[in-house]
Amino acid sequence: MRNIVIVAIATLLLAVWYFTQPSDTSSDQITQTQTPSVIVPELTADAKIGETYFNAKCVACHGDYGTGTQKGHTFLHKVYEKNHLGDESFQRAAKFGTPAHHWNFGDMPPVTGITRAEVSKIVTYIRAIQSANGI
Ligand code: HEC
Repeated sequence: MRNIVIVAIATLLLAVWYFTQPSDTSSDQITQTQTPSVIVPELTADAKIGETYFNAKCVACHGDYGTGTQKGHTFLHKVYEKNHLGDESFQRAAKFGTPAHHWNFGDMPPVTGITRAEVSKIVTYIRAIQSANGI
């Protein structure tokens, strides 16, 4: 009988401990993968060209206006602001792909049939959308 009481108390204490633990904040996984609403600014000529390339090569995963899909993340997140993700990172991602690190979509494969100049226009386009949305 005494043993049962001890086990019951131990179980209770364990349960209290378990449910009062803070959720895991150590990983840099981001949970919000899509941006539900987006402000689309007036686009410069270069940004419009970038939009065309983006819609041809990136939209399937990164979504309309870079707002994300089930297959790729939004760019309207502070980890992708210019100071965190420089323009050269877009070039690298397009050329070599990128391993999954912030999200759970898996790896990004290299994008074929796109040039550095075209990726630069995509960057112009994404930066325009980002700045209109406070990123
Ligand atoms: C097949 C789906 C897919 C396509 C197509 C795609 N991406 Fe990605 N992209 C991803 C995934 C998945 C990641 C990885 C995100 C992570 O976990 O950090 C990613 C990450 C990125 C990153 C972030 C790299 C970093 O260093 O964090 C950039 C920039 C990027 N993509 C740009 C592009 C551009 C530009 C295009 C079009 C030319 C494109 N992507 C096309 C799926 C895709």
